[in-house]
Amino acid sequence: MYQLNFDLNEFLTRFWHKEPVVIKSGFVDFEDPISPDEVAGLAMEEEIDSRFVANQDGEWQVQHGPFESFESFPDTHSQLIVQAANHWHPGLRAFVEPFRGLPNWLFDDVMICLSMPEGGVGPHIDQYDVFICQGMGKRRWRVGDKGEYKDANHHTGLRQIEGFDPIIDEILEPGDILYIPPGFPHEGNTIDVSLSYSIGYRSPKKQELLNGYADYVISNDKGDIHYHNPELQTRDEHGMIPKAEYNALNDMLMKLINDDEAKARWMGEQLSTSRHELDIMAADPPWQSDELQQFLEDGLFLEKVSGMKALYHENNPGVVFINGETIELPEGCEIFGKVLCDFEDFSIDELGPLASNPAVLALLLDLCNQGLWYPQA
Ligand code: SIN
Ligand code: CO
Repeated sequence: MYQLNFDLNEFLTRFWHKEPVVIKSGFVDFEDPISPDEVAGLAMEEEIDSRFVANQDGEWQVQHGPFESFESFPDTHSQLIVQAANHWHPGLRAFVEPFRGLPNWLFDDVMICLSMPEGGVGPHIDQYDVFICQGMGKRRWRVGDKGEYKDANHHTGLRQIEGFDPIIDEILEPGDILYIPPGFPHEGNTIDVSLSYSIGYRSPKKQELLNGYADYVISNDKGDIHYHNPELQTRDEHGMIPKAEYNALNDMLMKLINDDEAKARWMGEQLSTSRHELDIMAADPPWQSDELQQFLEDGLFLEKVSGMKALYHENNPGVVFINGETIELPEGCEIFGKVLCDFEDFSIDELGPLASNPAVLALLLDLCNQGLWYPQA
């Protein structure tokens, strides 16, 4: 079990969305959750997003996985990166547990970097809050202040910048954590063969919200109504948009923007949609209702697919959003909604009297048969 050596609340007050910081020995009794061979194994899988970044004699190269072999890869100035490793490896799932105090809707993924000496992706700026947790090996990290920086046109897809003056320049050792808010330039350079784990959180932009809601409005056929003015009269100023007509159009727009029911549903669906592929496998053969009931009565646990988001709005836990889908729970089953969303796994104890509610059991059976929750081995 992973445990932090610092108070997450105090950290949030002082640093979150404010300034970068190095937390030496951020974990109690740190141990790597995965081995370099296992990281290479993940990078060979079709469904897993991976890339290899090398800088040989000043030439940047990026190759995308899945990889068949690593034999021809240089063993210095290079890095193998695996995205959303927490979706595929139980050790990485456990690794993010101590960060559960942060909202799941902001959480993105855990990216692993297996770096060779001198390996790094060059100076760059991310739009993520990231906790870079140093595993085996050592890396030197430099972080600059927020500001305007010139893009380096290396055409590698690495979005590098020209350079920056460091406000942090430290060597990270196993168990150390570097927190970087969005917008602060940074660069890691590897000293000894290293594993590092980037736990990323992504705050949406205003324009992304508007864009996402607009897509929802269109795909759900909301507001498919034309401007309507049966009182229209002639006017001298042919080119003018009269105030009243502007207001009428604005009202049409605001009706959609102020549709709280549609907005809540869109937001739940959008925020619960994972940006990375999930390891979902439908139950085969499907569970029968009496089997599931027996499983629960035996006190065993059902576990959520790793990295899958299940969310509810504070004022309405009777509607849950699971992996981009809305589910309206039966009347009086709000606790069930909270159990699905607030816990990574649960047993009959968390369900309480709802464990014998046929509607709850039917829904649970469906979720398990879709492979969204599964019986813990
Ligand atoms: C790296 O570990 O070199 C990449 C992580 C990052 O800078 O975001
Ligand atoms: Co970065």
